[in-house]
Amino acid sequence: MARLKIKEILKNGETGSEVVAKGWVRTKRGSKNVNFIALNDGSTIHNLQVVVDVAIFDEELLHKITTGAAIAVTGELVESAGSGQSVELNAKSIDLLGAADPDKYPIQPKKHSLEFLRENAHLRFRTNTFSAVFRIRHAMAFAIHKYFNEKGFNYLHTPIVTASDAEGAGQMFRVSTLDAKNPPLTEEGGVDFSQDFFGKATNLTVSGQLEGELGALALGEIYTFGPTFRAENSNTTRHLAEFWMIEPEMAFYDLKDNMDLAEEFLKYCIQYALDNCMDDLQFLAQRLKEEEKNKPQDQRSMDLIEKLEFVLKNDFVRLPYTEAIDVLKNSKPYKKKKFQFPVDWGVDLQSEHERYLVEKHFKCPVILTDYPKDIKAFYMKQNDDGKTVGAMDVLFPGIGEIIGGSQREEDLEKLTTRMEEMDIPAEEMWWYLDTRRFGSVVHSGFGLGFERLMLFVTGMGNIRDVIAFPRTPKNAEF
Ligand code: 4AD
Ligand code: MG
Repeated sequence: MARLKIKEILKNGETGSEVVAKGWVRTKRGSKNVNFIALNDGSTIHNLQVVVDVAIFDEELLHKITTGAAIAVTGELVESAGSGQSVELNAKSIDLLGAADPDKYPIQPKKHSLEFLRENAHLRFRTNTFSAVFRIRHAMAFAIHKYFNEKGFNYLHTPIVTASDAEGAGQMFRVSTLDAKNPPLTEEGGVDFSQDFFGKATNLTVSGQLEGELGALALGEIYTFGPTFRAENSNTTRHLAEFWMIEPEMAFYDLKDNMDLAEEFLKYCIQYALDNCMDDLQFLAQRLKEEEKNKPQDQRSMDLIEKLEFVLKNDFVRLPYTEAIDVLKNSKPYKKKKFQFPVDWGVDLQSEHERYLVEKHFKCPVILTDYPKDIKAFYMKQNDDGKTVGAMDVLFPGIGEIIGGSQREEDLEKLTTRMEEMDIPAEEMWWYLDTRRFGSVVHSGFGLGFERLMLFVTGMGNIRDVIAFPRTPKNAEF
């Protein structure tokens, strides 16, 4: 008999039919005569209740069926008396596939802290919270490909190892083939890192954008979706050293087209989650409520599902950076000196400022545009005022910046002048500048931090809890 997934059994299983279910034991409880096993196989947040008549099974076998053990159960589906489940499985035979020593298995049927589970990253998938998060993560990745495919974008694979610093921020992990014990030396006697990668200095990519622009200026519309790396000290709940980024890049799009796409795209992903992940979202919504039940009312988050629906219903507010600075300077926290970081025209906004705008002032996602050129990357479209660039950051409640993007400077001379001002060697970027030499056009793009989207959709509070194997300054073991 073929195995059925628990999701399928709970949805379509007919009473009276015989099925095989395989999975991991979440709990086993019961009396002398009957045991109830909650079995989960990862296909759904819900467990299949297995009913075991103790008299017909070997005592030693039942003894080994403990939390974390893997079993295969053959039996008959019967109507369930328990609430919230349509059927349960009356066990006829049980195979112990893999035991889990109860004295050593770290995941017990009680509530573990997220911190504890982070240290048990290999087993945290076995919990309801993390299996829900990772099913949603899968669904979001699929939705992203589906969205761009439907719009005729081409998925472009940009390199992980590269010589370029796309953001010009110097936050790169070096990739080296040098013999650490006997490295080549410079004339001054230091290690000659320019020899890193078979004679060239290379690093892990911080963004696929520059390569993406080459694709867009030939294929029209492309997107990347891959790992990116930032060697910033990322000990916050919003930063990872390794994160996944989605970077669409479009020829013939100006800043307005870019904003329209970003808003439509985010809403599409959120709608997809509501349409396809409701069981998991409901579980996470409940989890959040429980977590916050001891907080004062005004500090509790909005219900997760209401929050997602709210974002769908409303147009994002769009306003220039300069106006946002005015809003901030007229705000209560500014006047009462409650912001930790100062606000003035020219400063890079901190997440406390971004969140004030979104959560307190506009109460809605916000797209800020036209930032000062000195706090943005070299490639952004220079505005006529000589001071700002055609940048756009999308700010989300609870998150701050979720998307960063811009219209790109398509004029060769303006671009190379800016690169000179910023000490970016034009000769090394000949391949990039060729797009502006030959058939240059207006174009735009943006980057969505995948884990930041995941934080928003799942309501989780720490970015380490929405990626399977977080890379942070303290964690790179496995
Ligand atoms: O604003 P960023 O640095 O922009 C770029 O990399 C552009 N090249 C994107 C483009 O225009 N194609 O990063 C884009 C997004 C941020 O808005 C944020 O969501 C996410 O990437 N991000 C991070 N996510 C997790 N950990 C980090 N350390 C992140 N740094 C950026
Ligand atoms: Mg940014």
